[in-house]
Amino acid sequence: MESAAEKKQAIRLSDRVNRINVSPTMAVLQEAEKLKARGVDVADFGPGEPDFPTPEHIKRAAVKALEENKTKYTPAAGIAPLRQAICEWHATQLGSGYSPAECVVTSGGKHAIFQTISALVNPGEEVVIPAPYWVSYPDMVKYANGKPVFLETHADDGFILRAAALEKLLTPKTRIVIADSPSNPTGAVIPPEEFERIIALCRRRDVWLLTDECYSHFTYGDAKPFSAASLPDAKDRIIVAGSFSKTFAMTGWRVGYVLGPAELAAAVIKLQSQSTSNPTSIAQYAALAAALGPMDSVGQMLAEYARRRERILAGLRTIPGISCTAPQGAFYAFPNVSAHFGPAMPDDISAAKRLLDREHVAVVPGTAFGAPGYLRFSYATSMERIEEGLRRLGRFFGPVQ
Ligand SMILES: Cc1ncc(COP(=O)(O)O)c(C=O)c1O
Repeated sequence: MESAAEKKQAIRLSDRVNRINVSPTMAVLQEAEKLKARGVDVADFGPGEPDFPTPEHIKRAAVKALEENKTKYTPAAGIAPLRQAICEWHATQLGSGYSPAECVVTSGGKHAIFQTISALVNPGEEVVIPAPYWVSYPDMVKYANGKPVFLETHADDGFILRAAALEKLLTPKTRIVIADSPSNPTGAVIPPEEFERIIALCRRRDVWLLTDECYSHFTYGDAKPFSAASLPDAKDRIIVAGSFSKTFAMTGWRVGYVLGPAELAAAVIKLQSQSTSNPTSIAQYAALAAALGPMDSVGQMLAEYARRRERILAGLRTIPGISCTAPQGAFYAFPNVSAHFGPAMPDDISAAKRLLDREHVAVVPGTAFGAPGYLRFSYATSMERIEEGLRRLGRFFGPVQ
C-alpha cells in the first residue's frame, strides 16, 4: 500500500509553487521550539520579533473595535481613517508626502512586498537583491517568475548597498532594486546620501526602488529613522513597504502597508481584492491607535534594544575567531564564525545545528540569508538570556584551532 508520504508526493503541484521553499528561518525556530517543549533550557537567539507585548492603548483599541462589532469586511485597501493615519504618521515621522490614494493597508510588511513584486515583475525580469538578504525576497521574486540578481555587500563596508556597485548589475531587464534599511540580518543602515545616489541611478535606468522600512525606528548611534521617500523628487521612483509588526510589537496582528504612486497602489488593491481582501478589521483599528497614539513605547523598546546590542556585540567580539560588524539598526548581530570551521564543523549550517544540539543555543545560519560563514543572533530576547547565551557560546567556540 502507498504510504501517506508517497501519496503526498504524487500530487502535481504548480511550477510556481515548486520554485519556492519554506522559509529557512522557520526550520531553526521549529527545532528550538521542539526542545523547549521537552523542557530544555534554550538560549534562543532565533526569533525575528520583539519580545515586548503590544502596547496597552493599541490592545484596548482592538477590544473596543470588537465590542463595537467592527468585525465586518472593510474596503480591500483598508479603512479610510487608517490609510489617512499611515500617510500622516509617515509624513510626521519620516518626512514623506503621501495621500491615501497612494496607500494600501496590507496583511503585514511581507504581504506588502509580495504584492508589490507580483504587481510589477513580468517573467524573466530581474530584481536586484543586496546580500545578505532577508530570506523571503528571492522566493517572492521566483514566485512571480522573475529572476533574483544578488549584489554582494561587504562586512568591511558595514554591508551597505552602494550605488556604484549596483550600477554594474543593472540591465535592461532590471525592474526593481530592493533596499532593506535597517537590514535584517546585518543591521546595515543605508546613509541618506547613498540613498540619493541610488535613487538618481534608478531614475536614469528606469528602475523601481522598493524600500523595506520594517525596522525604520530601530536605529543606533548616528543612524536615525529615515525614509528615502523624504528625498526631493523621489516619490515617482520609490515604493515603500512598511509594517506595524516591529515598530509597535504587533507581529501577530498582521498589518503593514504599501506607499507608492496611485497607479501602483491601485494594482496592489486589485490583487489584494482578489486574494486576501482586507487585513483583519479589528487589527486595522489597533493599527489606527498605533499610528495616531504616542510613540513612547517605541522609544522604550529602542532603549532596551540598544543596551542589549552593546552587550551582545561586546560579548561576541571577545570570543576568539569571531568578528562582528556593529549593527546600525534592527535587532540582530551577524558575526562571521568561519574561523572555527574544520572537518567536524565545515560550515554555518553545521555550526547552527551543533550549537543547538550541544549548547541549546538557537541561531539562524547565514546561508539562509545568502551569507555562508555567518550566524544571525536576534537580541530581541532578555539580557539574562543574552548573558547565558554568551556563556554557552564561549564554551562552544573556545580558541580557534
Ligand atoms: C526585513 C523584513 N522585511 C519584512 C518583514 C515582514 O514583517 P511583517 O510581515 O511581520 O510586517 C520582516 C519580518 O521579519 C523583515 O525582517
